[in-house]
Amino acid sequence: MANRKYIVGNWKMNGLQQQLSDIAAIAAVAAKHDNVDAGICPPATLIASANAANPGFAIGAQDCHFNENGAHTGNLSAAMIKEAGATYSILGHSERRADHGESDEDVKAKAEAAHAAGLGAIICVGETEEERDAGQAVAVVTGQLSGSFPEGADASWLTIAYEPVWAIGTGRVPEASDVEEMHAAIRNKLGALMGEGSDAVRILYGGSMNGGNASELLAVPNVDGGLVGGASLNAEKFGPIIEAASAF
Ligand code: 13P
Repeated sequence: MANRKYIVGNWKMNGLQQQLSDIAAIAAVAAKHDNVDAGICPPATLIASANAANPGFAIGAQDCHFNENGAHTGNLSAAMIKEAGATYSILGHSERRADHGESDEDVKAKAEAAHAAGLGAIICVGETEEERDAGQAVAVVTGQLSGSFPEGADASWLTIAYEPVWAIGTGRVPEASDVEEMHAAIRNKLGALMGEGSDAVRILYGGSMNGGNASELLAVPNVDGGLVGGASLNAEKFGPIIEAASAF
């Protein structure tokens, strides 16, 4: 049985109060396509107001700390983002791995902290262009998955996002056959890591997904949805992706 499609917008460091109207417009499109799970992860400063203004629409965060509290200037705990209204968080995005030195071990601890606080977790994995050119893409990604994999993982709260680093924000998208190979490898690794129930863990594709390529990407076996950056910033761009997902 195919999983319900899951389309998540990652706003990264974009969005002021003025852009709350874009989230409202996106939530309105999502409400019309109730066979799709859709959500937006705005900057943490917008989580509370976005959640209050859009009941029933899934607002997420882009990161959380692995500790419950303490001397971690500038960080937010899982309980804090949950209290603000997030129901899940993106974790281990390649931009955080690169810009903030997050290791697989950190990402695993963050996912466990998110779950302990009652949040869902979207764990990101993906190879660089050099790693793909060297023929190491599958080994790198499955290695990241093993290293980042939380204890007690279950499809009710865990999602994986495959985001090739070279496809993020570049307009470049892998061949469907390469996406198929990687998602099958991730599916196999999930089976090895968690056994029963692994088929229900959704595996999202991320990297330059847009309204023009979403149908083709979402049709690839084991692609259960998308993690979308640039094309998630308004309903004009994100709506067609939700609509494409709704056709499955
Ligand atoms: P783009 O859709 O802008 O390529 O970003 C993808 C991404 O990083 C989502 O997390």
